[in-house]
Amino acid sequence: VERAVSDLKPLRLGIAGLGTVGGGLIGLVAGSGPLSRIATISGVSARSRGRSREVDISSFAWFDDPVALAAHPDVDVFVELMGGSDGPARLAVEAALRAGKSVVTANKALLAEHGAALQAQAAAHGAQLRWEAAVAGGIPVVKALREGLSANAISAVCGVLNGTCNYILTEMDRTGRAFGDVLADAQRLGYAEADPTLDVSGADAGHKLALLAAVAFSGAPDFGAVCLEGIEAITPTDLESARFLGYRIKLLAKATRGAGGIALQSVRPTLIHQDHPIARIDGPLNAVVIDAEPVGRLTLTGRGAGAGPTASAVAADILDLAHGDTRPVFAGPGSYGPDSWPAGADAGTQAEPHSTGPLSRFYVRLRVADRPGVIARITDLLARHQLSIESFLQKPPEAMADSVPIILTTQPCHETDLRAAIAEFAGVDAVIGTALVMPLEL
Ligand SMILES: NC(=O)c1ccc[n+]([C@@H]2O[C@H](COP(=O)([O-])OP(=O)(O)OC[C@H]3O[C@@H](n4cnc5c(N)ncnc54)[C@H](OP(=O)(O)O)[C@@H]3O)[C@@H](O)[C@H]2O)c1
Repeated sequence: VERAVSDLKPLRLGIAGLGTVGGGLIGLVAGSGPLSRIATISGVSARSRGRSREVDISSFAWFDDPVALAAHPDVDVFVELMGGSDGPARLAVEAALRAGKSVVTANKALLAEHGAALQAQAAAHGAQLRWEAAVAGGIPVVKALREGLSANAISAVCGVLNGTCNYILTEMDRTGRAFGDVLADAQRLGYAEADPTLDVSGADAGHKLALLAAVAFSGAPDFGAVCLEGIEAITPTDLESARFLGYRIKLLAKATRGAGGIALQSVRPTLIHQDHPIARIDGPLNAVVIDAEPVGRLTLTGRGAGAGPTASAVAADILDLAHGDTRPVFAGPGSYGPDSWPAGADAGTQAEPHSTGPLSRFYVRLRVADRPGVIARITDLLARHQLSIESFLQKPPEAMADSVPIILTTQPCHETDLRAAIAEFAGVDAVIGTALVMPLEL
């Protein structure tokens, strides 16, 4: 091992972003592991030079402008750990690639929005673009897909990719407390950002899913094609009812392969059968399940965030570059993928939720006035749309309410048909508000 490390190409790093991940990476370069023996730090950049930091940066050259650091002749590899899909992160990554320097980043937002263009730029300048840390933090899932599974045809990738949402859902399930209360606790404990929108809306998991799907199915990342739905509408009643039915609710990110490449990408709360490996992923953990042929089903679990796990993935990318690995990440696992990338994959608006999709069973929760005949009207309406109910739960009335939640699950159907029926619920005067619909996953 000693000889293997000493044979590697020494690399001079420029690190932009000295927060959680940047600090973790500097710790690894300063430590005693393999990275410390091949990497030196030529310069660092962040927003505020005077800020007190957990790592000592006094011996590194300081750059106010990350773009100047990215293009500096003393930098071999530019490490972007600032975040953001545009602004300084994008400008600096582009400057590094233009200068023919390889880039390692953890920035899923940047790659999900602009990955195809950045990969093309890297190829044009003979540079490498690496981003293992951008998906599921410490879980080496990009490596698993592009290296370990390179001889497989992958049919589906799904997972729990946002630790904040998983922590919130787990706590709501465990304690019976409401979304807002648990979110406030998660913010106090540091599991959720002061502005949690990117996490709870599903967008962060959507960024990661677009990247995973691109690698798994040899496509270009297309965040605009991901149907997004967040966890804000989930109530303790939903979690309790799901449990009663033998399921858990998770924010599931899922991409499936169709005839021409990626068929469907969605991030949405989903009832996961209690026997599915993802049902047992609790708290801030992440998990990825890969269905591939001939290997079968693989499940990877671990810590998807935090200084150590994320820096571990950044360091592995840097070590790969030191090994001289030049295989592009977005090229996918090999000969099974289509060669063509969709035009305009980096642009466009977010996909309309639920526009297409295979047959699935669904969970529907709606609130109705507590009076006779209401349930019969709802079942009639569903029957007129040829939708069959599999199970029907009527929860006891909740305190302070003259209405009751009713919960049903359907036999397999197309979501568009179910949505058409639900649109007619609005005309039933006893139905209050809008229905919540979640798919069931076995
Ligand atoms: N945290 C994780 O566990 C995790 C996991 C996977 C991926 N990531 C990704 O890793 C990246 C970094 O995340 P993080 O958690 O380390 O973030 P963070 O703790 O907020 O740190 C961000 C760093 O970037 C600097 N920065 C922010 N905006 C800047 C700007 N406009 N110009 C120059 N510097 C700027 C900040 O400077 P100051 O220090 O001066 O404020 C700070 O040092 C993000 O893309 C994130 O999505 C994070």
